[in-house]
Amino acid sequence: MTNETLGIIGGTGWLGGSIAKAVLAKGLFPAGKLVVSNRSGTHPLAQQGASLVTDNQALVDRSDMVIIAVRPEHFASLHINAAGKTIISLMAGITAQTIAAQTSASAVVRAMPNAAVEIEQSFTPWYCFGAMDALGKNLVQRLFECVGTAAEVQEEGFIDYLSALSGTGPAFPALLLTALSNQAIAAGIPADIAQLAAKNVVVNSSQLLASRDPQEIIDALVAYRGVTAAALQAMTHGHFSALIGRALQEGAAVARKGLQS
Ligand SMILES: NC(=O)c1ccc[n+]([C@@H]2O[C@H](COP(=O)([O-])OP(=O)(O)OC[C@H]3O[C@@H](n4cnc5c(N)ncnc54)[C@H](OP(=O)(O)O)[C@@H]3O)[C@@H](O)[C@H]2O)c1
Repeated sequence: MTNETLGIIGGTGWLGGSIAKAVLAKGLFPAGKLVVSNRSGTHPLAQQGASLVTDNQALVDRSDMVIIAVRPEHFASLHINAAGKTIISLMAGITAQTIAAQTSASAVVRAMPNAAVEIEQSFTPWYCFGAMDALGKNLVQRLFECVGTAAEVQEEGFIDYLSALSGTGPAFPALLLTALSNQAIAAGIPADIAQLAAKNVVVNSSQLLASRDPQEIIDALVAYRGVTAAALQAMTHGHFSALIGRALQEGAAVARKGLQS
């Protein structure tokens, strides 16, 4: 447990709310040291002793570390002075420099969790801009470990690229699941069976990857020269890797473009 006070601007949202719940459940911050804000003024965590405010400056004044968990388009209207404090931004596409200039924060962390914060299974890369000692960085790391795994990266540009990779959370698997299921239905498999089969591949069988090397699994299955090998080869010949590369570049380009607006 830390002595610092954490403020979460937008603490009722998907990401902000999940992080607030997790840091309390994991005991990293006691309820008395958590302040959350939103515009509507209601939050279930208020019943657990966390403070709820609608005045973002009041939240900043009470906090040592402030997470900004509002959507990027709402950032310009925040008008907060965080001089001497650390800001952790979850917003895609707004540079650390822009955030530092607009808030006067002494350090800005740009972090990119994903929707799996909800089940404490996010991967959160984070980048630090400005002055932050080892204790501060350790707290940031522990904060994001409350909702999964986390790692500091040394270049801000990595955050833009990773926004399109891990930041998308369940999006790529959802697309794969839907494609597998729809193709099976089109091939005449009953819809309920197609959906069970596709869900098993993407959600259940893939659990093996938690403890097994993916390339070894591919190599072993291709070595059988059977059904799986034929299916995977069709993917390779269809330039699957290149398509993934293009998808990531397109997503990263949007993240970078956001930086300039
Ligand atoms: N969702 C994802 O998968 C994902 C992944 C990576 C990064 N992100 C980033 O995370 C941020 C939050 O995304 P989200 O999906 O959690 O959004 P969300 O569910 O819409 O949450 C945003 C929250 O901000 C509050 N809010 C809006 N304006 C505010 C203001 N002026 N003062 C205080 N609170 C305010 C809203 O509550 P009220 O309407 O009550 O004010 C809402 O609870 C975004 O910047 C996004 O780029 C999201």
